[in-house]
Amino acid sequence: MPGSLQGKKILLGLTGGIAAYKTLTLIRLLVKGGAEVRCVCTPSALEFVTSLCLETLSGHPVYSDLFSGRNEVKTEHIHYADWADLLVVAPASANTIAKFAHGIADNALTTLFNAFDKTVVMAPAMNTRMFRHPATQANLAQLREWGVRVLAPASGDLACGVQGEGRMPEPEILYAYIEWTCRHLSAASPLGMPQEASFYRGKKVLLTAGPTVEPIDPVRYLSNHSSGLMGCCLSDELSLRGAEVYLVTGPAKVRPRFEPYRLIPVQTAAEMYDAAISLWPDMDIAVLSAAVADYTPAEVSEQKIKKDSGQLSLELKKTQDILAQLGKDKRQGQLLVGFALETENEVANAKSKLERKNADMIVLNSLRNPGAGFAVGTNQVTFIDRQGRIKAQELKSKEEVASDILDYLPSLS
Ligand SMILES: Cc1cc2nc3c(=O)[nH]c(=O)nc-3n(C[C@H](O)[C@H](O)[C@H](O)COP(=O)(O)O)c2cc1C
Repeated sequence: MPGSLQGKKILLGLTGGIAAYKTLTLIRLLVKGGAEVRCVCTPSALEFVTSLCLETLSGHPVYSDLFSGRNEVKTEHIHYADWADLLVVAPASANTIAKFAHGIADNALTTLFNAFDKTVVMAPAMNTRMFRHPATQANLAQLREWGVRVLAPASGDLACGVQGEGRMPEPEILYAYIEWTCRHLSAASPLGMPQEASFYRGKKVLLTAGPTVEPIDPVRYLSNHSSGLMGCCLSDELSLRGAEVYLVTGPAKVRPRFEPYRLIPVQTAAEMYDAAISLWPDMDIAVLSAAVADYTPAEVSEQKIKKDSGQLSLELKKTQDILAQLGKDKRQGQLLVGFALETENEVANAKSKLERKNADMIVLNSLRNPGAGFAVGTNQVTFIDRQGRIKAQELKSKEEVASDILDYLPSLS
């Protein structure tokens, strides 16, 4: 059976970062997936991995010296740029990112980048302080602005011995990202960007996900069965479509496959409310998929509540309504999507919620539908929008539901 990248021509750019060792596995995956891979290296990259290794894995000579007589054609940078469907730079060092953002063309890879007018995927990998440096952030913003698909680095152990943001995503994650990008390549759109992705490209999207946890005392809490899977699928789909995802998540059981642009972990409904309200003025879209507690204990006991012979009553107070507040604060051009989980009078309740809260769309799921709702991999939803449309969807995987929601949203703008 042909691989999912059958016939795709991929230029793989490597720079001088320790994560170059992971790129060796990526080459294997790409070749196994049916792609033809050619490697382009900065001189520093070859301090980390050898040409011999890259040539053996890719089956092709490595291009690393602009002026070498060994090159098959004299203007090799143009030749390679013409040949490829996609340029993937992994790992992308702070240095090369800066050169790309300033049009500097002083080695084989940077010169090739300047001559490349198709889709570019970039995986920055570096120490957290280098990544967070305003120069690196400004350079990445410039590249995003030009349509480069920048993968947010993962957090975890870094080679420099510290913990933090800056790890290159694992080869399997990069492969999935490249595979999706290749599936949506379109020669007709700017920089070869996928047409449907262009709506989300560069848009800032606030996404809430998972359950909230409302403490009763130091050991007990009130929560719900939300796994956070629907939110993770939305986060991944938004990342693939080029959005800057601000994921505000309660303690979910799953994590997105692709690192969101910003991950804001919260516990309580009040924390989720504060995070969402402060982010909203800067956002283009908000999708509120979290299962937020409607009620929270009126008081949190400082000590563990002791077992008594009688009954125990808990006094609860209402939490603040995130969707309603975002609806009130919504400005012209912002899109607001809420989720509703209903058990009776579903459509009527969801329509009323849409109007009361000034949302643009409600994604309704009913617990009465088998295979829909919490802790299952599937969902059956109905889209209810402010233009009065009610569109019942079939039972689908949560990945497909996420994709359907994002396909539908542009029709509301
Ligand atoms: C052991 C070692 C590891 C390094 N790892 C990284 C890294 O992960 N990311 C990065 O941006 N720079 C890293 N650097 C610094 C780059 O290699 C250096 O900035 C170099 O000039 C990059 O060149 P290039 O962008 O042309 O490949 C590392 C340097 C050393 C010595």
